[in-house]
Amino acid sequence: MTATADDGFMRVIRHIQDEVDFEPEYYNEAYLNRRISARMRRQNVEAYDEYLTVLKDDPNEKAALMDSLTINVTNFFRNGKMWEALRSVLEELTTQNRSVKAWSAPCADGREPYSLYMLASDDRRIDESRLSVLGTDISDEALENARAGVYETTRTTDIGEELSLLDSPDRYVDVEENTFTVKPEIRREISFERHDLVQDGPKRNYDLIFCRNLLIYIDSEYKIPVFETLTDSLKPGGYLVVGMTETVPQEIRDVFEPVNKRCRIYKYTPERD
Ligand SMILES: C[S@@+](CC[C@H](N)C(=O)[O-])C[C@H]1O[C@@H](n2cnc3c(N)ncnc32)[C@H](O)[C@@H]1O
Repeated sequence: MTATADDGFMRVIRHIQDEVDFEPEYYNEAYLNRRISARMRRQNVEAYDEYLTVLKDDPNEKAALMDSLTINVTNFFRNGKMWEALRSVLEELTTQNRSVKAWSAPCADGREPYSLYMLASDDRRIDESRLSVLGTDISDEALENARAGVYETTRTTDIGEELSLLDSPDRYVDVEENTFTVKPEIRREISFERHDLVQDGPKRNYDLIFCRNLLIYIDSEYKIPVFETLTDSLKPGGYLVVGMTETVPQEIRDVFEPVNKRCRIYKYTPERD
């Protein structure tokens, strides 16, 4: 970016800080720039200041930018290999503990926590009755969608295909043409609540935490605090799963033992030397 473009970019960022329900300082600049530039292309403007004018004048653009910044792209069974590797972790946890607490943070529209509960129900070696699942996200809209549990097959999303890792998907969803609705008896098993991973504190005594595909967007300054929140929420011996392009930061790597490095599954071992 040239110095002038840089100033313009910062003016857009300051406007977001003041006027849009989003905290830009948590996220890295490259990510913010990609999302803002995508909106600028859609609006056919080239300069940041020109875009700022559109943003100030058009309330629809404010909503569209907010949507673009809180990207909540997700899938059922995203990165299938990780879910295959997770089967033995879930078997071990549900065999050794009478109650197993799992947390999907962030859960976006709920497909990640539903995948977890569906996999546990589908695999005969896993006792899903011992499992309780919480999904949290910063976005109220995402949580509303998660609670509804209704997903559509579109030109770009094939929900039937996403569920194909399961032996019997029809036990968990009702299908009507292109609409897949998670059955009430599955929906009942998952709790959803709002939680900001940067600002809100840890939870307690989790056996398994997923924190996938958020850390890539978070500014390096906030990564360690997010990891501290996750670590403080885990039981010793509990598991952490991060996204396929993410890693546990160097500073805390000594308390996480890789269980499956390729699938980004780690065991929390604070007692290790
Ligand atoms: C790309 S989705 C990841 C969903 C899922 N974990 C997955 O891997 O498919 C990222 C989600 O992070 C949420 N998010 C962004 N900032 C957050 C924060 N500070 N705390 C909690 N959730 C946040 C967004 O609302 C979005 O739903």
